[in-house]
Amino acid sequence: MRALVAYFSLTGRTKRVAEAIASQLSNYAVDIEGITFTGTRRDLVDGTVDSIAAGNWTHLSAKETIFDLEPYDLVCIGMPIHGGRPAVAFNAYVKRCKGFAGKRVCTFVTCSFYPGKSLSAMGQALDGVGAVAGDQMAFRGLFRIGTAKPAEYGRKVNGS
Ligand SMILES: Cc1cc2nc3c(=O)[nH]c(=O)nc-3n(C[C@H](O)[C@H](O)[C@H](O)COP(=O)(O)O)c2cc1C
Repeated sequence: MRALVAYFSLTGRTKRVAEAIASQLSNYAVDIEGITFTGTRRDLVDGTVDSIAAGNWTHLSAKETIFDLEPYDLVCIGMPIHGGRPAVAFNAYVKRCKGFAGKRVCTFVTCSFYPGKSLSAMGQALDGVGAVAGDQMAFRGLFRIGTAKPAEYGRKVNGS
C-alpha cells in the first residue's frame, strides 16, 4: 500500500510533525512532500494578457500543477494554523489535487495556541471532494512541538 504525507510549512514545525507521522506508517510505502506553489499568477497564464484585456478569454490556459492522488491508498495533509484557520495553502492544494474520491484522507494541524475549527473545516472541504474522513489531530506548542504525539498519531493512522 502507498501513502502520501503532504504538508505546508513556513517555519519547519509542520514539516517535523509530518516527518514524525510518516516515520510510523510502516504498513505503507510513504512519499512525503512539502507543498509549494511556484510562479506568480501572471506566470500561470499563457502569454495572452492582451487578448484577455480585450475581453477574449478563449486562449486562457491555466498552467497550475495538478497533484494526482490516484496511486495512494492513504493521504495525510498537514497545515499550520494561520489566524485561526488552516493556512490558505490548504484550499489551494485541495483545489489542485485530483483523485480524492473514495480516498481515506487524514488531516493534522500545528499551532501555537488553539486550532479553532480548522480540523472540522478541513474535514468539510475534503468531504466536498468525496474523500473518506480519516483521523484528525491538532498539535500545539508555543515554543516547540515534540515528536512523541505526532508519532503516536502516526501509529494510529497506520493501524498499529
Ligand atoms: C501568520 C501566522 C498566523 C498564525 N496564527 C495562529 C493562530 O491563529 N493560532 C495559533 O494557535 N497559532 C498561530 N500561528 C502559529 C503557527 O500556527 C504555528 O507556529 C505553526 O506550528 C507553524 O507551523 P510551520 O512552522 O510549519 O509554519 C500563526 C503563525 C503565523 C506565521
